[in-house]
Amino acid sequence: MKMEILQECGVLLCVLVFAFARSENEIIKLRSPDSVSSQCHTHTTMSCKITSQDEPSISMFAWIGPGGATLCKLDERGGVVFNDSAVSCTYRDKQLDLTIRHTKPIHEGRYICKLRSNLGGKHSYTQLKLRECHNQLHYHILDGNVTCGARGVYPEAHIHWFQGPQNLTHSSVSHPSIPAEDGTFEVASTLPHQHQSALNCSLWSPSTGRLLSSIQMSPPASPPQSRDTFSRATSFGAVGTTVTLFAVALILL
Ligand SMILES: *[C@@H]1O[C@H](CO)[C@@H](O)[C@H](O)[C@H]1NC(C)=O
Ligand SMILES: *[C@@H]1O[C@H](CO)[C@@H](O)[C@H](O)[C@H]1NC(C)=O
Ligand SMILES: *[C@@H]1O[C@H](CO)[C@@H](O)[C@H](O)[C@H]1NC(C)=O
Ligand SMILES: *[C@@H]1O[C@H](CO)[C@@H](O)[C@H](O)[C@H]1NC(C)=O
Repeated sequence: MKMEILQECGVLLCVLVFAFARSENEIIKLRSPDSVSSQCHTHTTMSCKITSQDEPSISMFAWIGPGGATLCKLDERGGVVFNDSAVSCTYRDKQLDLTIRHTKPIHEGRYICKLRSNLGGKHSYTQLKLRECHNQLHYHILDGNVTCGARGVYPEAHIHWFQGPQNLTHSSVSHPSIPAEDGTFEVASTLPHQHQSALNCSLWSPSTGRLLSSIQMSPPASPPQSRDTFSRATSFGAVGTTVTLFAVALILL
């Protein structure tokens, strides 16, 4: 009885040690970053690397996009085949690099690097996250109302208004944001009735509460003094020219 238990324990220990050794010393491994954080409109590269003691014979090595489509893969001859004009891939030293040329919000999600080989099959996941993006704030004044907005905003940011230290956001009307094809938004806000002193229009991140961008707009009052100076200078120039012409005429006569 005791002997049997001992034997069983021995077998179990053997199995455990073997399983441990196997997981520690896998024949083939696949490695890609857990997550990649990218700036809007820049290029993003995700690398997937095979590590193995022996040279594997690869039957499939590919990057698959968040939608499930194969973005690029190795063909039988070891060349790279693309299936998406927005990306490019390179293969070197058992490493497949996926590059998204112009990263947009629609590219966010989970990417899968997949391998099939004579040494086994593996896959690894990489999460692509995009940092906040926005184009420049711009504004226009119509019928005394000031409208301020920005395109290419992601995620949907808020516009706030200030006049000096005073927060005027509560009296503004924000427009419904307009989604663009690339996953960004156009946001805008109108402050009714124009204010006499300088206004500050600012864009705020909804996730971090951080100020992303701001512009200062001054009331469109052009000082009349400058126009006076300009016309005086012009008439002086005109008088000068007349005098010169008169002198030339006298000499010629
Ligand atoms: C190639 O791309 C198209 C469109 O992006 C997709 O529908 C198709 O499934 C892709 N092919 C493969 C093999 O994934
Ligand atoms: C300004 O007002 C808006 C809305 O009333 C508010 O969400 C925002 O936090 C305020 N900002 C500051 C800096 O007080
Ligand atoms: C300006 O604001 C007023 C008051 O909110 C509104 O009635 C008017 O339609 C606005 N004008 C324009 C051109 O947006
Ligand atoms: C606009 O107001 C915000 C909040 O008070 C401030 O941080 C920012 O510097 C101002 N921008 C300009 C251009 O004055």
